[in-house]
Amino acid sequence: MAKTILCLPGDGIGPEVTAEAMKLLECLGNDFGLSLRIEQGSVGGSAYDQHGVPLPDATLEAARGADAVLLGAVGGPKWEALPYESRPERGLLALRAELQLFANLRPAVTYSQLADASSLKTELVSGLDIMIVRELTGGIYFGQPRGVRTADNGEREGYNTLVYRESEIERIVRVAFDVARKRNRRVCSVDKANVLEATELWREVATSTAKEYSDVELTHLYVDNAAMQLVCRPKQFDVIVTTNMFGDILSDIAAMLTGSIGMLPSASLAADGKGMYEPIHGSAPDIAGQGVANPLATLLSVAMMLRYSLDEERLAGLVETAVERVLDSGLRTADLVNAGGRSVSTAQMGDAVVSALRDLSGGS
Ligand code: IPM
Ligand code: MG
Repeated sequence: MAKTILCLPGDGIGPEVTAEAMKLLECLGNDFGLSLRIEQGSVGGSAYDQHGVPLPDATLEAARGADAVLLGAVGGPKWEALPYESRPERGLLALRAELQLFANLRPAVTYSQLADASSLKTELVSGLDIMIVRELTGGIYFGQPRGVRTADNGEREGYNTLVYRESEIERIVRVAFDVARKRNRRVCSVDKANVLEATELWREVATSTAKEYSDVELTHLYVDNAAMQLVCRPKQFDVIVTTNMFGDILSDIAAMLTGSIGMLPSASLAADGKGMYEPIHGSAPDIAGQGVANPLATLLSVAMMLRYSLDEERLAGLVETAVERVLDSGLRTADLVNAGGRSVSTAQMGDAVVSALRDLSGGS
């Protein structure tokens, strides 16, 4: 039976990069016999412009019905002054919450062809392969109460709540251990247990859950130290598991280690295997519409979709190989030109990956 993919291009460079993913999905259908039904929907600022809300009901319904969701990016200066609940980011956060996508996998892999593009010394980052497992539906992003109120002395005060239940901690830590079992069997849990009770509990639950995974090594770091370690000795890490907000921050750091945030995909998974896949980068309004964005993070997100939601591990590997071949051939989008090679547009990069993938179909 055909699997349904909901494509949500979103804002800024989102439509440009997802257009390349559509070419890839078409190729997977035509040349590899993958039976897919593609639907399109709106989210973010563009949904607000058309429908007055960042997550229209129709989009949410389509997302619930789909086997997987592919999202471009949301946000931009045009919508920054809107009230909080109408902002593009609320659409993304509501999708995560409504679909219960609690496990966010953010790999940070340095491609050997691009090691020179990192702002860190090549020897520090070459061969880097980290998986950040970020809790995505809890913590301070969603905790109640939250808001801006008037304090006793009449000034306004903003407040948010960092809250985690044991069950929420345990299920994300289990994901990290399961992922580590397919890798180098090391998990580093990142918290701020020296200051925040909620993450003291995090550390406690991580430690007790680890007892069931005696084949995996568990270590702990405070988040400030983890940030420092990521830029001074990043290759010490295998899997990092952490809270929603710490994961947001650490994954941007990890992304830059690899040379370009334009390379990194992500998967956000629910307990039932349903997933939403998106590049880690944002909507990059400064370069939107110019055809210079790097589509590889989105194409690699399709690979993650094949792996985690469509049970097509072999095709996931082929897409990743196709991306490697294109990098080997020296093609570079603007964000990667530091690494040398020939500068190409978004569409040329997408076409090159599709053609490399098509070449692989012969041998498959
Ligand atoms: C991310 C983004 C989002 C987040 C924003 C756009 C709401 O930064 O996916 O990392 O903070 O989670
Ligand atoms: Mg972020």
